[in-house]
Amino acid sequence: MAPQTPFDDVSLEALRQRRSEKWRRYPPDVLPAWVAELDFALAPSVRRALAEAVERDDTGYANVGGLPEAFASFAASRWSWGVDPQRTLLIADIMSGVGELLRALTEPGDRVVVNPPVYAPFFNVTREVGRAVVEAPLGPDWRLDLDALAAAFADGARAYLLCSPHNPTGTVHTRDELAAVAELAGEHDVLVIADEVHAPMTLPGATHVPYLHVGAENGLALVSASKAWNLAGLKCALAVAASERMADALGQVPTHVRYHVGHFGVIGGVAAFTEGRAWLDGLVQHLDRQRGRLADLLSSQLPGVKLVRPEAGYLAWLDCRGLGLGDDPSEVFLQRGRVALSGGLAFGAEGRGIARLNFGTSGDLLAEAVSRMRSALDG
Ligand SMILES: Cc1ncc(COP(=O)(O)O)c(C=O)c1O
Repeated sequence: MAPQTPFDDVSLEALRQRRSEKWRRYPPDVLPAWVAELDFALAPSVRRALAEAVERDDTGYANVGGLPEAFASFAASRWSWGVDPQRTLLIADIMSGVGELLRALTEPGDRVVVNPPVYAPFFNVTREVGRAVVEAPLGPDWRLDLDALAAAFADGARAYLLCSPHNPTGTVHTRDELAAVAELAGEHDVLVIADEVHAPMTLPGATHVPYLHVGAENGLALVSASKAWNLAGLKCALAVAASERMADALGQVPTHVRYHVGHFGVIGGVAAFTEGRAWLDGLVQHLDRQRGRLADLLSSQLPGVKLVRPEAGYLAWLDCRGLGLGDDPSEVFLQRGRVALSGGLAFGAEGRGIARLNFGTSGDLLAEAVSRMRSALDG
C-alpha cells in the first residue's frame, strides 16, 4: 500500500454523522461509494470563510461577491484560460444551468446531443425542459466518437452537452478532440454547453483543455467549485460565455434565476478558487494514489473487473461484465456485499453490466469497499 496522507485520515464514525445524501440514503451497515461527494475535511480556507459567515449571521441572499473574478484568476493560473468576468452568469448549480440555458437558447422539441454513458441528469434535464435527447455514444475506447457526433450534428441537432472531463469514465478530452468538436459545431451551428465541473481534478498524465480555449465561438462553459471542494449542497456555479454573442445569449436567462444561487455557495466558491489551490493540489495527489490503489486492489481481489482508468476526478467505471452478475452488478454488491456503487444503466444502455465506484475517500475505506465487493461474489 502507498504511504498514508492527510486525506487518508477520515473517520467512518464521523462520516456517519453527516446528513448529506451520500451518508443518509442507505442503512448504516452499507458503505456508500456512489454519489459524487468527497469524504474529506473541507479545505481550511473554505471552512474558515463559511464559519466567519455564520459568525456574522450572514445568511441572506447571494451577492455575486467576486466569484467570477475568483474563477477567472483560478482559470488563468491553472489553464492559462482568460475568462472575462463580464461574460459570465451566476447560477445555482451546473444542472439547473443546463436547464436554464436550454430553455433560453433552444426551442421546445429541439434536438440535444449527449454522449452516453454519461451523467444521468443530462438525459433528465433535457427531457424536463421539453427538448429531445439524441445519443452519440462514446466509442469502444470510452472516448468521443467524432463520426457519431458529426452524424448527430448533421441530423438537425441544435445543442450538444459536452461532459469535459467525462463522467462516468473519467475521460479527459484532448485538444485535438475538442478542436474537432468546435469545428463540427461551427459547421452545423450547434450550441455547445461544456460541463467542466470535474476539470479542477484532472489527474497526472492528462491535461484539461477548457472547451472555450479551442476557438469555440458558439460555446458556453459551466464551472463550479462544487465537486473538487465538495460544496454541492451550497448551490453555486458559473456559466462562462465564449464570445460577445454568447454573453448576449446569457442575458436571455431570466433574471430571477440569480436568486436561486446560494449565498454560502458564493462564499465557499470564492474561498476555494482563491485560497484553496494548495489544498486542491493535495487532493489531486491523493486521488492519483487512490487510482493506483484501486487498480492494485482490483487486480488482487477482483481480477474479473476491468477498471477504465480515470484521467480525472474520483469516479471509476468498473466493467463487471466478466463476473456474470447480470445487467446491474451494483445491486449484487449492495445486497450481498453491503457496499453502494452507482448502477451503470443510469448512465445509458452502454452501462449494462458496469458499475461506478466513488474513490474520493481514504485508502482504508477504499480497501473496505473493494473487500465488500469481493465478498458479494462469495455470497
Ligand atoms: C458531470 C457532472 N455535472 C454536474 C454535476 C452536478 O453538479 P451540480 O450539483 O452543480 O448540478 C455532477 C455531479 O456529480 C457531474 O458529475
